[in-house]
Amino acid sequence: MKIAITGATGQLGHIVVEQLKKRVSAESIVALARNTEKAKSLGVEVREFDYSKPEILNGALQGIDRLLLISGSELGKRAEQHANVINAAKEAGVKWIVYTSLLHLETSSLNLAEEHKSTEQALKESGIDYTLLRNGWYSENYTASVPGAIGGGAFLGSADQGKIASAPRADYAEAAAIVIADETNKGKTYELAGDQSYTLTDLAAEISKQTGKTIPYNNIPEKEYANILKNIGLPEGLAMGLASWDVSASKDDLFDDGKQLSELLGRPTTSIAESVKIVLS
Ligand SMILES: NC(=O)c1ccc[n+]([C@@H]2O[C@H](COP(=O)([O-])OP(=O)(O)OC[C@H]3O[C@@H](n4cnc5c(N)ncnc54)[C@H](OP(=O)(O)O)[C@@H]3O)[C@@H](O)[C@H]2O)c1
Repeated sequence: MKIAITGATGQLGHIVVEQLKKRVSAESIVALARNTEKAKSLGVEVREFDYSKPEILNGALQGIDRLLLISGSELGKRAEQHANVINAAKEAGVKWIVYTSLLHLETSSLNLAEEHKSTEQALKESGIDYTLLRNGWYSENYTASVPGAIGGGAFLGSADQGKIASAPRADYAEAAAIVIADETNKGKTYELAGDQSYTLTDLAAEISKQTGKTIPYNNIPEKEYANILKNIGLPEGLAMGLASWDVSASKDDLFDDGKQLSELLGRPTTSIAESVKIVLS
């Protein structure tokens, strides 16, 4: 039995490989990477794999039984890229695909939803058994702003009082490894998020508590926030994306209280306070 992981060189993918090694033999794991050099340190078989090169995908998937398709990072190209992977998987005889989708996909106002919807549809039409890991927000998306908030004296955002149930990448990665190692997860859809939710006001209060400095949360209009992010050097598309995702957060689109992630993990998810502590250490 062979399990292949796409995006194995990414921040999520490499933790999945580590976690999977604890559950199945390293010989049964295949890391799929567009940069094979980058994947060598994973200690498993590596095969070249680029979602945008359909001509190499079928060959790379030969002999693969289970595939973890980690969504790509090139926004706007992903629906086509993921369809390339699913088509190749079908041709190569892959028996089961686990896909990292988006929390509450049917109702989410996040502009990221469209590409995930298209991929979920392609999976449905493929006839291959599949499982959906509808991942919520990574805590790191917010904790990456902790140093900036300390330097600037305030945590900025446009999420207002929206409730955010995030978890660190490591929790989602461990869950992905647990799911793909166990065939009884075939056909399931998991809505994955942190056990506890917080608002950005709560997050700013946590940063204040842990640093001993007063860091308030300043909620600002979407355009203004996007401009600030652009002015500190973020590419325009990413700055606009981050601001718009915050507006979705203000509508509670990053909230969930189903606790399916901790159920899969068999332990509580890592709290935002713990994630802040890690950034500050
Ligand atoms: N839930 C969330 O909050 C959240 C946040 C950010 C992203 N995401 C999604 O979750 C995914 C995994 O997150 P992450 O933190 O691990 O992202 P990441 O560190 O950016 O890793 C993305 C992975 O996808 C690979 N990739 C990108 N385009 C590819 C292509 N055309 N062909 C083959 N591989 C390709 C990258 O390969 P290289 O190493 O060669 O670049 C990398 O291994 C992201 O790609 C994105 O879809 C979710």
